[in-house]
Amino acid sequence: MSGITPSGSALHIGNYFGAVKPQVELQDTHETYYFVADLHALTTVQDRNVLEGNIASVVLDYLALGLDPEKCVFFRQSDVPAHSQLAIVLANYVSFGHMKRMHAFKDKLQKGADVEAINMGLFNYPILMAADILLYQPDGVPVGEDQRQHVEITRDIAESFNSAYKSEALKLPEAMISKETGKIIGTDGSRKMSKSLGNIIGIFEDEGVIKKQIMGCFTDPNRIKATDPGKVEGNPVFIYHDLINDNKEEVEDLKHHYREGTVGDVEVKERLFAAHQRMFGEAREKRFQFVNDLEKVRKILRDGAKKASEIATKTLADVYEVIGIENTLNK
Ligand code: TRP
Repeated sequence: MSGITPSGSALHIGNYFGAVKPQVELQDTHETYYFVADLHALTTVQDRNVLEGNIASVVLDYLALGLDPEKCVFFRQSDVPAHSQLAIVLANYVSFGHMKRMHAFKDKLQKGADVEAINMGLFNYPILMAADILLYQPDGVPVGEDQRQHVEITRDIAESFNSAYKSEALKLPEAMISKETGKIIGTDGSRKMSKSLGNIIGIFEDEGVIKKQIMGCFTDPNRIKATDPGKVEGNPVFIYHDLINDNKEEVEDLKHHYREGTVGDVEVKERLFAAHQRMFGEAREKRFQFVNDLEKVRKILRDGAKKASEIATKTLADVYEVIGIENTLNK
């Protein structure tokens, strides 16, 4: 199981290779639950129109990129009230001291936020996330590297709950983070790809925008002319070729010529743009079709919420039972 926060940024290839692709692949081999963490987005998005737009956009992106409602359960967090209900319970099994060590919270402080002004939704973020995960008792949680600590806090909370009641009601999940693709370098060649750093290659933007992002990509800084031998290792343009370009022969050929100084950066990038079109053309088309059939999208989410609720309310009822709150409405 995994969740996606609709915090605003359109998905880029870093999100795709780091999270979406492994998630989509898992649906073929495992029982999978994926949801849009709309309540989590409130920590940062407090404009109702913006939030609605972000939610729709992330739902469409995921469906277009291959989440298949026939194979996985896809739903919205707020459609399954058990997420909020379990979070209230779980808050009692983690200490203030432990919560203070969370990265997202510390990052904010480092950026100069006033600790007294941080909203409690942000501070409590990992508790809601623990509820999200534990409700479905998953074996694994496929996420990007940045979510590792959150999954660890989830395990800590589950452990502390289980030991308080000498029960095994909550199963400890494992983070599933792909080594090669958990962290994709940005087009600046130095930092992780991230919308806020302006170093992304998008997926669904207009072609002109994507072309510009690719053409502006950092390459080998020591190569002045196309006839200079270039470095392929660690060069973002070639990292992206390895990820995106289905024509492996072309990639090998380009690398060979690049090392020799017989191909220019512009050509390498143009080939990358063509490969991007091949890889994401179908998803772009699919997204367009979903946009024109929003009723179908709504039905997917309704059906998903129904299926998710069956499992979620069962876990919540088990937890209520363990703690001594038997709730007939949840039985
Ligand atoms: N925190 C995750 C992110 O920002 C989103 C998320 C919320 C999540 N709940 C989750 C991911 C549960 C995995 C499992 O990307």
